[in-house]
Amino acid sequence: MTPSDVKATLSFSDGSPSMELPIYKGSVGPDVIDIRKLYGQTGKFTYDPGFLSTASCNSTITYIDGDKGELLYRGYPIEQLATNCDFLETCYLLLNGELPDATQKTDFVNRVSNHTMVNEQMQFFLRGFRRDAHPMAVMTGLVGALSAFYHDSTDINNPEHRQVAAIRLIAKMPTLVAMAYKYSIGQPFIYPKNDLSYTENFMRMMFATPCADYKVNDVLVRAMDRIFILHADHEQNASTSTVRLCGSSGTNPFAAIAAGVACLWGPAHGGANEAALNMLEEIQRKGGVEKIGEFIAEVKDKNSATKLMGFGHRVYKNYDPRAKLMRETCHEVLNELGLQNDPLFKLAMALEKIALEDDYFVSRKLYPNVDFYSGIVQRAIGIPVQLFTAIFALARTVGWIAQLNEMIGDPEYKIGRPRQLFVGAEKRDVKPIGQR
Ligand code: SDX
Repeated sequence: MTPSDVKATLSFSDGSPSMELPIYKGSVGPDVIDIRKLYGQTGKFTYDPGFLSTASCNSTITYIDGDKGELLYRGYPIEQLATNCDFLETCYLLLNGELPDATQKTDFVNRVSNHTMVNEQMQFFLRGFRRDAHPMAVMTGLVGALSAFYHDSTDINNPEHRQVAAIRLIAKMPTLVAMAYKYSIGQPFIYPKNDLSYTENFMRMMFATPCADYKVNDVLVRAMDRIFILHADHEQNASTSTVRLCGSSGTNPFAAIAAGVACLWGPAHGGANEAALNMLEEIQRKGGVEKIGEFIAEVKDKNSATKLMGFGHRVYKNYDPRAKLMRETCHEVLNELGLQNDPLFKLAMALEKIALEDDYFVSRKLYPNVDFYSGIVQRAIGIPVQLFTAIFALARTVGWIAQLNEMIGDPEYKIGRPRQLFVGAEKRDVKPIGQR
């Protein structure tokens, strides 16, 4: 953080002593006003529910320029990573700050491959769930349960433990997601096969059975791998902030990542891809493209809670660059599968076109986000709608870990403990029940 020559001065209209606040500059993006001494000097807190104007940390991992529609992982544009790299290279970059050379990549891939199996006891956790349990309920349980098996790598303050836990989590998420899927359809679990690539392995664990192996389709594997890359990290979003706050207590990495899984489940966050596809299917059921006008009217109606799922973003006030890449991937996958006329894809493109010409959305800077097209791609690949957010969690695990490790590795970090503006009852005495 570079101190700015400019200072902020806080003054009070009642003549209370004013205060000078330092300003820091980052390498790119908005400056920050350092308010760490504010309460000590003024007895006042700042107030920012939802953290619209609050930086919770300084970070070197991911940068988003919401106005330009730009997303950089460690400085590399997402478009270049999605085109020139695979997911494990991106994992290495997010964890270590640089892209791997050939030797580093081979070593990293081998380390991940050697941790893809989960302890045999893990399968018994699934038996406790109903077969129709939501996969995110299962994943929240399974990821938290991992902390019961790896007492040798749960000391978050030990760099070696953090390293091993990172590899274990990245390696085991595909296995757990595939197990949650197989359990939901009553099929036996498929073990990982380590001569396959990371994403081939995942697709095989999802779609192979003991009776018929999975025939790898390179276009679909590449599309899935790109979905992982696009979802890998995204600054201090709700689930990443959850992981940081949870990890700040010193809890083990598995428990902190389980908290991220739970937060990601929400429809305003990672659950939006499932909600967006359900929305498209609902419009399709009601009559498809002809019904878009009616649906848009409902979204604009202040009395309805209907939102255009997959649209809007707290940071992107221009097109989400991931949505562009996801739409391209949609074309590739649907062409490969001979689904060019997929009605949902046509409906999605019609809905996008209408929304982008409608002042309600334009004036609120609401553009498609990563979730708008990702559901159509995943559905075409054969991923059930309820599993979309679990796939998002699989991909985001590396971002959560990188952000958690960055926080723990910062000598200045403290346990997170926000304050509040109290507007409740002032002190009063308890009356005996006969007098209440
Ligand atoms: C992700 O943070 C991240 O980086 C998240 C994420 C990641 O990679 O981690 O990018 C992943 O979560 C993407 C977002 C997925 N969520 C959705 O698609 C759900 C639908 N979108 C909205 O719920 C909403 O846009 C949010 C939650 C994404 C952002 O909400 P904000 O920034 O708090 O904005 P807001 O709710 O205050 O909306 C501003 C205005 C409001 O209208 P007015 O009150 O001004 O009249 O825009 C309207 C909102 O009603 N609005 C929408 C809308 N989103 C916002 N109206 C219709 N449809 C929508 N989708």
